[in-house]
Amino acid sequence: MNEDLKSIFQNLIQNNIQNNSIEEVLDHLTDLFHQDICFSTSFSMEDQVITDFIKDSEIKIFTLDTGRLFEDTYNTWNLTRSKYKVNVKAYYPDQEELEPFIQEKGPDSFYTSVDNRKKCCEIRKVHPLKRALKGNKVWITGLRAEHSPDRENLQQFEWDESNQIIKYHPILFWTTEQVKDHIKQKQIPYNILHDRGFVSIGCAPCTRAIQPGEDFRAGRWWWEDANKKECGLHVHK
Ligand code: ADX
Ligand code: SF4
Repeated sequence: MNEDLKSIFQNLIQNNIQNNSIEEVLDHLTDLFHQDICFSTSFSMEDQVITDFIKDSEIKIFTLDTGRLFEDTYNTWNLTRSKYKVNVKAYYPDQEELEPFIQEKGPDSFYTSVDNRKKCCEIRKVHPLKRALKGNKVWITGLRAEHSPDRENLQQFEWDESNQIIKYHPILFWTTEQVKDHIKQKQIPYNILHDRGFVSIGCAPCTRAIQPGEDFRAGRWWWEDANKKECGLHVHK
């Protein structure tokens, strides 16, 4: 148990850190934790906004390359590298886990059962995430409340008990309009799939575009029951 870090978190909350601007919060966090802060990017438009905020800071940026991402996501990664001169660290699945899983179940077993799908997410995302978070004190994400009812109940700052880390979601309460306007105004590179009806973007075989009026996460694991649409990266109480 990381009681020291947890009490720093409680102090931050008591001092209403979330009432400051994103820039002020990031400055305060880097004063406190220096290089022990990381930001996870999936190169979604939300994540691109955050990359733009932290581009000149010492905050580390990482991505979980599942091996099944869209080509357009890799293109966005390349655009991000050239525009911001940032080196995104990529974490990959452990071959000792992945190879026997694929040998036994085949490459696309996620379509055959929720258990297989969750196992694939565990191997390709959750276990690499644990490695990425190791040694860090703050984990910044691009989660947004509009994306799901579960996420509406989140706070901008959370204590993540399972990972023993402070989580910070700078644009949790931004609307889609705000995100898009910001991207336009700051000329931030974004995933072209967002212009083709893709809202929440994950792995290629598990993400489709949505129709106007559909839930934001309707395109994720669309063949499954709506209540199960999380991959285990973000465990909400
Ligand atoms: S997920 O839990 O359904 O996969 P979602 O796609 O909504 O998550 O993204 C929410 C946040 O999780 C992103 O803003 C990002 O911080 C993190 N995230 C999701 N997928 C990845 C990934 N492949 N690599 C790094 N971070 C990710
Ligand atoms: Fe596997 Fe699909 Fe999960 Fe990606 S989203 S890790 S391909 S089950």
